[in-house]
Amino acid sequence: MISPTLSTVAYVGATILFILSLGGLSSPESSRRGNLYGMIGMTLAVLATVFGPNVTTGGLAWILGAMVLGAAIGLYAARVVRMTQMPELVALMHSLVGLAAVLIGYANYIDPAATGHLQGAEKTIHELEIYVGVLIGAVTFSGSLIAFGKLSAKISGKPVLIPARHWINLAGLLVVIYFGGVFIHTHAVAEGMMPLVVMTVVALLFGIHMVMAIGGADMPVVISMLNSYSGWAAAATGFMLSNDLLIVTGALVGSSGAILSYIMCRAMNRNFIAVIAGGFGTAGGAPAAAGAQPAGEVHPISAAETAELLRAAKNVIIVPGYGMAVAQAQHTVYEMTKQLREHGVNVRFGIHPVAGRMPGHMNVLLAEAKVPYDIVMEMDEINPDFPDTDVAMVIGANDIVNPAAQEDPTSPIAGMPVLEVWKAKTSIVMKRSMASGYAGIDNPLFYKDNNRMLFGDAKKMLDEVLVAQKA
Ligand code: TAP
Repeated sequence: MISPTLSTVAYVGATILFILSLGGLSSPESSRRGNLYGMIGMTLAVLATVFGPNVTTGGLAWILGAMVLGAAIGLYAARVVRMTQMPELVALMHSLVGLAAVLIGYANYIDPAATGHLQGAEKTIHELEIYVGVLIGAVTFSGSLIAFGKLSAKISGKPVLIPARHWINLAGLLVVIYFGGVFIHTHAVAEGMMPLVVMTVVALLFGIHMVMAIGGADMPVVISMLNSYSGWAAAATGFMLSNDLLIVTGALVGSSGAILSYIMCRAMNRNFIAVIAGGFGTAGGAPAAAGAQPAGEVHPISAAETAELLRAAKNVIIVPGYGMAVAQAQHTVYEMTKQLREHGVNVRFGIHPVAGRMPGHMNVLLAEAKVPYDIVMEMDEINPDFPDTDVAMVIGANDIVNPAAQEDPTSPIAGMPVLEVWKAKTSIVMKRSMASGYAGIDNPLFYKDNNRMLFGDAKKMLDEVLVAQKA
């Protein structure tokens, strides 16, 4: 067992490493280093806690047993979960943070060794910490489970809007505040249990209600918002356990999640309060309703013709989306890019902030395929260049290149910034069918005169383009 001083030093070291880790994750070049700092920091934090002054030798066996079990499940999940299922896994993990906060809150309240000696203001503050910790934890737990259900299509992505839902939420809030008052004025654990349980039930229902009301198209924001909540739940747990490192780490996760939610809202031109209030978006992946179909014809193109167009181009912008991830086409995309660059074509990538199904999804895939970072551009950087582009190649993307966001004020995605591929001389959309994307809406891009449709699985079609290019 290590001394309290050494444990404090390790905690300070871990805190610094966590901050460096977040700094590193801000750009693709430094993200590996950032991850490494995070891993070292977390190892240090876990070792300093497990072998720290607050753990008895009797408890150590339990903790180590739980760690082995948890690590085995984590390793298994990391190996079998596909990249496209990451958001679901993350949502499930957030729910565990919430559940841990709730269980620790109850355990802390019941344990006489943790609270028995506290008096007066100290006792009130501690009870407040427990109450708030359980509250945030319960909302995070049930909200994340519903988010998991929606992302894995076990529950429909359609917003469930109960009449007078805002009044129901307000009533829930008043109940929580009232029972909070009752809770901190109780004198015995048996008395305090009732208000604590009532609040937990209300918080669980609120978490379910809040995420059920949010439509599929707003899920990116919900994921990062729940990420933020899980951080605050961890920080509240840190207060309950008087663990400074948990407070700092929770606050880092909480605030970075909040900043990410803000960035996502901006990327989708959504107001954060409007997202939380819910109601936007429809079932994901469903073909658009027949009535929404704009009149017009699409112009199909073959792989050989695509190869020809690309070879003749001077400037090409590739826009990857969710379909590239599904088809695992990133390596072939890079093969094609390499070939074109060798022939003197200027190839760059345009990345939308919510392309795919998780923040940074496309950047991760392109980095995995070893695409150089300097040709991977963000939406704002590359949008002005489309008019000077010969070919804009859309690989398995749909919502993020939908001109309806700019042209149709009644569209559910009206106002969302999109990659303006239709401004290129020719745009080519590679996808399997005319099906809609995540937001479930039709895409007028497909019917534009300068657009060509290359139908088929992204990997298969790119392989064919590559063969034609080499011919
Ligand atoms: P989507 O709009 O979902 O479109 C993806 C397209 O890929 C589909 O229309 C599909 O058409 C095609 N596709 C699927 N499998 C394919 C395959 N094997 N080969 C070729 N094409 C394939 O994707 P996007 O443009 O990347 O936009 C992302 C959407 O997801 C946004 O609405 C965003 O709000 C939402 N979202 C984002 C996140 C984050 S944080 N990035 C999280 C949750 C939700 P076919 O079926 O016709 O092939």
